[in-house]
Amino acid sequence: MSELKKLVERLPKAELHIHIEGSLEPAMMFELAERNAVSLPYPDIESIANAYNFNCLQDFLDLYYKGMSVLQTEQDFYDLTWAYLLRCHQQNVVHCEIFFDPQGHTERGIEFQVFMSGICAALDKAKTDLGISSKLIMCFLRHLDEADAIATLQSAEPYLDRITAVGLDSSELGRPPRLFQKVFANAAEMGLKRVAHAGEEGPPEYIYEALDLLNVDRIDHGNRSLEDEALVQRLANEKMSLTVCPLSNLRLAVVKELHDHPIRRMLALGLNACVNSDDPAYFGGYMNENFHTLIDAVDLTRDEIFQLVLNGFESSFLSRAEKQDHLNRIKSMR
Ligand code: ADE
Ligand code: ZN
Repeated sequence: MSELKKLVERLPKAELHIHIEGSLEPAMMFELAERNAVSLPYPDIESIANAYNFNCLQDFLDLYYKGMSVLQTEQDFYDLTWAYLLRCHQQNVVHCEIFFDPQGHTERGIEFQVFMSGICAALDKAKTDLGISSKLIMCFLRHLDEADAIATLQSAEPYLDRITAVGLDSSELGRPPRLFQKVFANAAEMGLKRVAHAGEEGPPEYIYEALDLLNVDRIDHGNRSLEDEALVQRLANEKMSLTVCPLSNLRLAVVKELHDHPIRRMLALGLNACVNSDDPAYFGGYMNENFHTLIDAVDLTRDEIFQLVLNGFESSFLSRAEKQDHLNRIKSMR
């Protein structure tokens, strides 16, 4: 393995864009389907991986929502989350900010208490046993209407001590951020931070809306900001974080080839980008695989690797003092 790849493995990292339901590996999907007597549209584990051939975000989402139907009990959510945290431990991801999709579960009759208890129990164990810190980000599914998001925010009230931020995910095209202004304003009033997927498939306009109408603290993806020079300038001036997901971009055809991935251009333009896995079980890799494929595909340099890793902690919702501890430790490895 190259020195740069070993460096990536050694560096403590923060992951800020990971959908916990997207960490459901085919083997666990099969195991949980059997445990819960849920039928899957796949004859065996191998055929699941073969089905993961996506031309766009919607192709993926169709399978993602089918996949999560196997998650039924508190134990299932615990097992799912714990498996992801063990990967974090193996890959030296020491802090993670995890998305979850409550509406993907409540729609199927699974109550808030079920997934919150399972996910939080795994997060607590990871803190004590593995030293991994974490935050939870509750996403609203943008293919559903805002009233549904508002009801979801109300259902979350008993769990607000465990939720740091709200997010916006699912089908982007035709579902602009402006449709969710009210629920994001309510979330802000409740003291929650805000993030939104924008500019993954949607135009730069959606990124402006996320900034101006949803008052987001971070943009998830943000690739299409590069089409608008004034927007890039603004994002750079405001040090707005972009949680970029290279393998996801490849698998969802946001880039044609990884060789075309704009991560280096983003850094050169002064954008505050970091590397994340998005839905690692669907896109072929966790944090280190994302870095490793970038090293091969775009010749990421040692300085760029440090910058991306530092950006991850700097962009996190950790306290200033916690961030500084991580940043100092990483800088000492330079
Ligand atoms: N839900 C899970 N992964 C997603 C992605 N990459 N974009 C939008 N919604 C998602
Ligand atoms: Zn995502």
